Amino acid sequence: MSTIILAIESSCDDTSAAVCKGAKILANITASQQVHEKWGGVVPELASRAHQQNIVPVVDLAIKTAGISPDEISAVAFTRGPGLIGSLLVGVSFAKAFALAKNIPLIEVNHIQAHILAHFIDQQPSFPFLCLTVSGGHTQIVLVKDFLQMEILGETLDDAAGEAFDKSAKLLGLPYPGGPLVDKLAALGNPLKFPFAEPQIANYDFSFSGVKTSVLYFLQKEVRKNPDFIAQNINDLCASIQYTIVTILLKKLELAALHHGVKEIALAGGVSANSGLRSSFQTLADKHHWQAYVPAFEYCTDNAAMIAITGHYKYLAHQFVGQDTEPIARYPLS
Ligand code: KG4
Ligand code: ZN
Repeated sequence: MSTIILAIESSCDDTSAAVCKGAKILANITASQQVHEKWGGVVPELASRAHQQNIVPVVDLAIKTAGISPDEISAVAFTRGPGLIGSLLVGVSFAKAFALAKNIPLIEVNHIQAHILAHFIDQQPSFPFLCLTVSGGHTQIVLVKDFLQMEILGETLDDAAGEAFDKSAKLLGLPYPGGPLVDKLAALGNPLKFPFAEPQIANYDFSFSGVKTSVLYFLQKEVRKNPDFIAQNINDLCASIQYTIVTILLKKLELAALHHGVKEIALAGGVSANSGLRSSFQTLADKHHWQAYVPAFEYCTDNAAMIAITGHYKYLAHQFVGQDTEPIARYPLS
């Protein structure tokens, strides 16, 4: 008989609950928070209050959608970190209360590990594979040796790839979060129109703060000459920014895969929803005859299904935690 796990994700601004039976996802419900839009970024205090409002209805809907009774749940998995502490606290507290009331075990999950294991929801990469994890807070190249054994080969020294998208979008006057909008407009533009600086960083590490500065100085210079420059070139600007970010990411991934002799590559995190990144990632894999794994859109951005699948593997490994477990804002992968 397969185990049924309830999973909770509340690390940033999405309140999500999922139910899995074995490795099969029965429900994955997410409530996004619109309240941050007018502030141009996530406001932690508003995020935790919205989680408080959303958590019960979201869990309730997940259980109903899964078609199970709360009494059939064998364990509760929750995101312990990394993330905003006030947001994490809502999910962690809910998970602990639910587990206590039902007298079932608790499973803590690292959000970044969950983004990587999201691949196992409907695919089956073979170990070892390389995962490029790109989100609003993280940019890492991870050597995935087993479900619960991962090694970071490289990571960003400053901004994350998602931040590079969002901050560049902000400079273009686009609303938050700008990443998806840059993606949409980039499809209509010329990626080679405006060359932006690529950082020269050693090993498999990344840096994106220079890209943002390069975009800023370029726009300041052009807008001085022509105040309508941004509006007149918005598609080409988005395409060029996206091309620069994608090129930086994939050059390092290619080097790491060649050096480690890995023939399977995967993409994870919110930025893996980017269509330019997805297609260039596939082109890179085809060039080397590597197998490429890209998660379905619904499992790219923050969701509890990825927490559920990670919970499933941790359940099999008997990795449980007690009621004294606290959220961790900075939670390294390894
Ligand atoms: O993984 P995620 O949902 O949350 C974090 O854990 O950070 O990632 C959110 C990030 C944001 O920076 C957002 O702009 C970016 O992913 N993003 C995109 C796209 N969709 C989401 N960036 C570029 N193109 C997209 N289509
Ligand atoms: Zn995330």
